[in-house]
Amino acid sequence: MSDDPTYLDLRRIHKRFGAFTALESIDLAIRRGEFVCFLGPSGCGKTTLLRIIAGLEMQTSGTILQAGRDISVLPPAGRDYGIMFQSYALFPNLSVADNVAYGLVNRRQSRVQAAPRVEELLSLVGLPGSGARYPAQLSGGQQQRIALARALATSPGLLLLDEPLSALDAIVRVHLRNEIRSLQRKLGVTTVMVTHDQEEALSVADRIVVMNHGAIEQIGTPMQVYREPASAFVADFVGKANRLRAVAEGDRWFRCGELRLQCTPGAGADFRPGRPVALYLRPEDRVMEGVRDDDPLLCAGTVRNVEFLGGNCLAEVLVDAIPDQPLQLQFSLNQMDEFDVREGARLRFALRADRVRVFAAADAA
Ligand SMILES: Nc1ncnc2c1ncn2[C@@H]1O[C@H](COP(=O)(O)OP(=O)(O)OP(=O)(O)O)[C@@H](O)[C@H]1O
Ligand SMILES: [Mg+2]
Repeated sequence: MSDDPTYLDLRRIHKRFGAFTALESIDLAIRRGEFVCFLGPSGCGKTTLLRIIAGLEMQTSGTILQAGRDISVLPPAGRDYGIMFQSYALFPNLSVADNVAYGLVNRRQSRVQAAPRVEELLSLVGLPGSGARYPAQLSGGQQQRIALARALATSPGLLLLDEPLSALDAIVRVHLRNEIRSLQRKLGVTTVMVTHDQEEALSVADRIVVMNHGAIEQIGTPMQVYREPASAFVADFVGKANRLRAVAEGDRWFRCGELRLQCTPGAGADFRPGRPVALYLRPEDRVMEGVRDDDPLLCAGTVRNVEFLGGNCLAEVLVDAIPDQPLQLQFSLNQMDEFDVREGARLRFALRADRVRVFAAADAA
């Protein structure tokens, strides 16, 4: 085996449906054992890309290498993967055991030969002894566990998951995503999961591929995508962000209302003096304590509204220096008490200039 850690290599993948371009110049190298999420809005091409990897859809042009082997034109049966979809994944007329054994029987194992492996897989997904049951007798979450067992049955090199959790209720979804993640770690199987749920992607992925309109906007770890979004789209799509209209003043200085701040702008945009820009700031990127009176990003403002979100709150604050653009600031419940955050209260804080991201205003439209 070579030292190249790349397991799945997508090169210049294009996909057209008639005149419509569904994917454009997709370049992506996935490492062996990695858990990668395709994240993006509906229609951005996530499923199409996953289906191309599986050979269920043929790319218009481009190359796919898996473990160094060119699989670009191989039919699905010639490729090495297990796949799991959102719902209706199981054969309703087959027992759980027969569902799980499906891929093994396809590979000319008898059901008797497959039986120990089936039981092992059912234990692996937390449903030992359920082989005689039928899909209709299982909950949605249990059905997806069986679908996962079936996808893993042949010990594939690659696990492909298309929104496997989106049909489940919130609690089961969070539970099962953590189980998929720990199972994936344990087995070390290279995994690609499609999701449009950013929280899901942030919590399970080693790296996230953020897609929009058939193209990749950014590839990065969850922390990179959240902290250093490569575009206004990514900053908007992943996590909450305040978007503030501002004007470039040159030399990395920007004016927002009466505030002036210096920060490193993203690449490729026009930040000449006078250009309109968009500043992005996460709701948690403010400093409450130890702020000096001469801090250039010292803000005073009035709390207009408080939205309770469970463990924390979002306070809408009208900053004196930015009168027409209220900020959303996040506080834990303890901080709410500590800093007396309530409707009508005055707050004193500083914005974290080091966390502000700047993009051209046009990108942000
Ligand atoms: N067989 C097809 N023929 C024509 N257009 C298609 C076909 N399959 C997909 N498309 C189009 O390609 C685009 C990408 O579709 P795709 O299913 O990959 O999106 P997605 O990112 O998975 O969205 P969702 O989150 O809604 O599942 C969409 O605009 C869709 O309408
Ligand atoms: Mg899809």
